[in-house]
Amino acid sequence: MKLLHIDASVLGDNSVSRHLTAAVVAQFKQQIDGLQVDYRDLDANPVPHLRSGSLAKTDPAEAADAEQVLEQFLAADIVVIGAPMYNFSVPSTLKAWIDRVAVAGRTFKYTENGPVGLAGGKRVIVVSSRGGIYTDSPADFQEPFLRQTFAFWGINDIEFVRAEGIAYSPQHREDAIAGALAALPSHETAEVAAA
Ligand SMILES: Cc1cc2nc3c(=O)[nH]c(=O)nc-3n(C[C@H](O)[C@H](O)[C@H](O)COP(=O)(O)O)c2cc1C
Repeated sequence: MKLLHIDASVLGDNSVSRHLTAAVVAQFKQQIDGLQVDYRDLDANPVPHLRSGSLAKTDPAEAADAEQVLEQFLAADIVVIGAPMYNFSVPSTLKAWIDRVAVAGRTFKYTENGPVGLAGGKRVIVVSSRGGIYTDSPADFQEPFLRQTFAFWGINDIEFVRAEGIAYSPQHREDAIAGALAALPSHETAEVAAA
């Protein structure tokens, strides 16, 4: 079985999402014998923004990396993504990664009856860390965006591990991390922290 682990936080060792994605992946490693883990740190190793040259494949190294990003995603049975809220949405590095996975004919296609997702059958776990509290807020352009993106690719098995109110106070931060760690998704439970 294959797991793809993606981090996007710019906060290094202070990152809440990095701490929590590491805990999720460690738990899956313990539970699944022989689990193969691929890792992409989008801060240390970002995917370039999609440009006209990307589509024309003018840079062979960029094209090869984009194909690897897509193949890594398609090959994964489980995808664990650290998705901090930055400016009400996801980090631009994560958006750039999504732009490389959203490829017609690979993760979705259009038909006469509308769009069809081609990447179903995966389990996606998103660690959502936020300075404020946005559950059920119309200002949340992060979780609904991710839910829609994965659903468009045919993936409806998406769970959110949330740590909210991180910026309210040190105690809020500690409690939010402890709460998330106490409810980590596991291989045995299909849905733990779904919205
Ligand atoms: C560039 C940047 C933008 C942010 N924008 C928001 C925001 O719009 N709303 C919010 O609640 N928190 C915001 N925050 C706070 C982060 O969501 C919070 O620090 C969270 O812990 C980030 O996850 P991380 O620790 O894994 O990086 C922002 C933080 C940064 C660094």
